[in-house]
Amino acid sequence: MNKKRTIIVSNRLPIRIEKNDGELKFIQSEGGLATGLGSIYKRDNNIWIGWPGYIPECEEEKEIIRKRLAELNLIPVFLTPEQIEGYYEGFSNEVLWPIFHYRLSYAIYKQENWQYYKEVNQAFCDAVWAEQPNDKDEIWIHDYQLMLLPRLIRQGDANISIGYFQHIPFPPDEIFRCIPWRDELLEGVLGADLIAFHTYNDTQHFLNAGTHILGLTIKNNCLQIGDRSVYIEVYPMGIDYDKFSALAENQEVQTRVKCIKEHYHNRKIVLSIDRLDYSKGILERLYAFENFLINWPQYNNQVVLYMLVVPSRDTVPQYKRLRDEIDRLVGHINAVYGTNEWTPIAYYYNTYPVEELSALYAAADVCLVTSLRDGMNLVCKEYVASKENKQGVLILSELAGASKELLDAIQVNPNAIDEISKAIVQALEMPKEEQRKRMDANIAIVKKFNINHWVRLFFNRLREIKHIQKNEMSR
Ligand code: G6P
Repeated sequence: MNKKRTIIVSNRLPIRIEKNDGELKFIQSEGGLATGLGSIYKRDNNIWIGWPGYIPECEEEKEIIRKRLAELNLIPVFLTPEQIEGYYEGFSNEVLWPIFHYRLSYAIYKQENWQYYKEVNQAFCDAVWAEQPNDKDEIWIHDYQLMLLPRLIRQGDANISIGYFQHIPFPPDEIFRCIPWRDELLEGVLGADLIAFHTYNDTQHFLNAGTHILGLTIKNNCLQIGDRSVYIEVYPMGIDYDKFSALAENQEVQTRVKCIKEHYHNRKIVLSIDRLDYSKGILERLYAFENFLINWPQYNNQVVLYMLVVPSRDTVPQYKRLRDEIDRLVGHINAVYGTNEWTPIAYYYNTYPVEELSALYAAADVCLVTSLRDGMNLVCKEYVASKENKQGVLILSELAGASKELLDAIQVNPNAIDEISKAIVQALEMPKEEQRKRMDANIAIVKKFNINHWVRLFFNRLREIKHIQKNEMSR
């Protein structure tokens, strides 16, 4: 029973619970993290701890859920409506999310939400300790919703192995400094042994925050907390390359690709897929598309912008406003530039199964990613993986983490509307050979640095660090 265990902790479990007609439904997430860590948490007595996204109606229902999830190696942390409002919507998504995406003016600082954030991080800590981990085990904590958790766990065991990965950017220290509770947040994360980000810049911002805000010393890429070294490193996350490349070749997906192309009368398809979020530059993309229609009228009736927006956080006011604004702008563009035969933008606010996403990737002539700030962005990698044997051009914001890897995309500044419009023209007019050359170069990266590679690298490094720490202590 003393076998080493891996405990994964994230705000959301890789399964979402919903209740339809009185029946509980357990819906498996298709997300990158769920796929990547699937082979780990399902094995042996490893577990994943997180929120199932559902509020049970009574204690009995909680028990039923606990038992069902336990069979899948999943441990739920249930949140009350007040905790969802204060910790998830209020603090995580109205303080940390906007600040970490460089949107100072969107942040709403409320003391009571900070209290909820602390309370829920403590609840996650209790859930971890209820599993009785020991210092042979490895704990991998994911993302900004749980910044206090590394330290809370460390207080219970000085030697336990803790990794923290942040999937969103870490801003420059002068932006991070604006958060009234910045010291506690930093100290919280620094309970980990290894803190990792998608890009080199994020690691530098974090190191600066450690020195400038907490006054810590840096040794190489480590921050020194007393005699403990905390390693700050970069591990860009990948996708399940094989899954996406195989799906694009799948017979049913191919049939669907044909239908999609026919539906749009073989016009060129420019595709965008994002969660509803102001960090994704959806409005800027629409302005750029309008500018493209105005300045390159020869493309009228020749091109469709297929824009899928996946519902997200729509209880947060900023997101509701964005949705209204998108509705208005899409309506305006279609009404002004559309004709009886042609609607310039096909806009959907929906969640699609992965097969449909794959068909869209495979069908699209251009994929347009215009994030104003993005930790990584996996959509562009999924598009690339769907293009092994197909033409396509990726236009990628230079402000998305993925731009540091996908150097053969057409890179744009998402705030430069004219530059995006020009990039659309460049993509539409790109010779086939150039498309192939650029796509192959991007494919090589996405294929090699895939999700399994990412998981392996992170765990190997965490083990190595524990080893270094032990040697240092015995000296
Ligand atoms: C981003 C974050 C994740 C988060 C996801 C969906 O990718 O990095 O931590 O889970 O968005 O957002 P949601 O608020 O629905 O969990």
